[in-house]
Amino acid sequence: MAVTGVLSFTLEIPDLASGVAFYTDAGLVADVEGTTARLRCPGQDRDSIVLLGGAPTKRLHHVALRVDSLSGMTDAVVRAGGTVVAAPAAFCATGLWVSDPHGMLIHLAEHAADIALAEVAAFQVNAPARLVRKSRSAMLPSKSYSTAKPLRLGHVLVFTPDVLASVAFMTDGLGMGLADRAQDVIAFTCARKDSDHHVIAFAKSPGIGFHHGSFMVADPDEVGRGGRALVDKAKRGDWGFGRHTIGSNFFHYIQDPWGSWFEYYSDMDHIEDHDHWTPTNYAMADSLANWGPKVPHDFVHNYEVDPNGFKPQQIAA
Ligand SMILES: [Fe+2]
Repeated sequence: MAVTGVLSFTLEIPDLASGVAFYTDAGLVADVEGTTARLRCPGQDRDSIVLLGGAPTKRLHHVALRVDSLSGMTDAVVRAGGTVVAAPAAFCATGLWVSDPHGMLIHLAEHAADIALAEVAAFQVNAPARLVRKSRSAMLPSKSYSTAKPLRLGHVLVFTPDVLASVAFMTDGLGMGLADRAQDVIAFTCARKDSDHHVIAFAKSPGIGFHHGSFMVADPDEVGRGGRALVDKAKRGDWGFGRHTIGSNFFHYIQDPWGSWFEYYSDMDHIEDHDHWTPTNYAMADSLANWGPKVPHDFVHNYEVDPNGFKPQQIAA
């Protein structure tokens, strides 16, 4: 009984149309029915984001995590300080719905395996005394490239008033592993076998809330190219192109219509077996990035505890 990955996140939002526009501009495919929008990666057979329109402000409704088995999960959740709760009205009653020690709702589901990703061409980098790409250009003219194609939701980052308590719940209650952390301010948890460096991460805040969902793309070029294209379409603030220290992934974040973030990522560290991984407690200097542009002033601001504070940064057309 353990979490093996993230399935989706569900947000309550005020204006469904602006949410659908933002995520379809990012490359997701939308299915809208009434006040609910479901978004999935092209080529996937399941949803990665659910938007519930008509709320007064944006709020994280729940995160859905994939588990290998629910056997023994109820006892482990309760022992770790969580609560088993009823499925919210109109949501799937299968699986296990739990509330973590801070009231964040999590849906645990034994979901079928995803469609396998197709192998992409190697991202080749010529280096001193290591020439791997000869007699051809790496780059085509910029107009040759199609729009970014999100391949799968890799991780979500959420806010919590107590990062280490949230990590303890994920490890003791849900069978996950601590990948790395930076003091008690940000921490990253992974599945214990064959996992991206992080599946769900936590940042310190006065309350719970959604920070970002991160989608894998083919390579670092697509992170940078897709990020720039989404900034141009959405006219929102951004942070990137850059590279994280923790997890090593290349990133580009674009602010969503409610002050939280969407991330494209590529080349994340992979944890094959958490029993053979040693978590590092990084200094705060490495908590956000190894290199990249200046961090936006509100990058780690939780607008769910400050709903009137968000002033969208409109980018000139
Ligand atoms: Fe991320």
